[in-house]
Amino acid sequence: MICALKAVGVEPGDEVLVPSLSFFASATCVLCVNAIPVFVDADPFFNPSAESIEAAITDRTRAAIIVHNGGYPADMDAIMEVSGRHDLPIIEDCAHAHGSEWKGTRVGAIGHAGAFSLMAGKTVAGGEGGIILTNHLECRQQLYAYMDMGRWTEREDKSVRLDMAANFRMSEMTAALLLVQLSRLDEQVETRERNFTYLAEGLREIDGVDAFERDPRVTRWSIYFWNFKYHQEAFDGVPRDIFLKAVQAEGAPIGVGGHGRPIYWNPLFQSMTDGNTWPIKCPGYDEPIDYTKTCCPNAEHIHREVALSIGHTHFLGDREDMDLILDAIRKVRANIGELKQLS
Ligand SMILES: Cc1ncc(COP(=O)(O)O)c(C=O)c1O
Repeated sequence: MICALKAVGVEPGDEVLVPSLSFFASATCVLCVNAIPVFVDADPFFNPSAESIEAAITDRTRAAIIVHNGGYPADMDAIMEVSGRHDLPIIEDCAHAHGSEWKGTRVGAIGHAGAFSLMAGKTVAGGEGGIILTNHLECRQQLYAYMDMGRWTEREDKSVRLDMAANFRMSEMTAALLLVQLSRLDEQVETRERNFTYLAEGLREIDGVDAFERDPRVTRWSIYFWNFKYHQEAFDGVPRDIFLKAVQAEGAPIGVGGHGRPIYWNPLFQSMTDGNTWPIKCPGYDEPIDYTKTCCPNAEHIHREVALSIGHTHFLGDREDMDLILDAIRKVRANIGELKQLS
């Protein structure tokens, strides 16, 4: 992500639009290049919405990072339209979405650059490491250089450095592990998709817990977290967190997603105005910015009341595992009166 930001031309003091619901690296990578993260609100699929991206653009905005939260592709038609209208490079954070597709194109190949995490918990895991994709030749040259200490491969004299840059090269051991992991990816994506489709069908019968209404443009949905939704009103006013405790007690591995909290609630951002001030107060940036005043209402609502999520490993089994989850939810639903007394 750091390489991608530099490769698309982000400079100190530039603003970069970032998701409010994601792992905090989707935003902190911007601080790592001394630029300013500006948070945008979420759409109903927990992804950054094209409307909030467009609304947040200023004459200082140099790029936008979008995430495919949980692996569900962001609305790349709408986002690329905004990108075209404003000449705004889009960096796809694909850390959750190895193999997902939007209208037949794999994510990571739609924006200007797409970055994949390969750390131990991911669906393709080499221990650590990352992959960046781009369809733009100039961006590729820059990416290659920023990944390799500024070495400019197109030049004959390989000692020439493009810029100050670190060493982000992947080790051969990691690459060897990843080749094996990649050979399993398609089969695992299919198994997970079969299982969560079955789970979604079962949820249709249960009032108050809804699977995403899948957009037909999502032609392949590879998950890291399978995100779905809780509706408090349909659950007789029982808050989501009480429902969660009850289904967890029944053994259902349901949580709120790895990164349900809006990133700007992180102490790093909340305390940035008193002490930890770089790059917000760097000489290149003279706009007052105070993350304690940032508010993305949809993201906060999703985080507090709506988000439900199951991790990818739980979908590698069979239907019986899905039935266990459905049984737990049905049981809790049937005993809603007891839960209501607790709330
Ligand atoms: C959405 C997202 N972006 C970025 C990262 C950072 O990836 P890495 O740990 O490989 O640097 C992660 C997870 O670790 C993530 O979940």
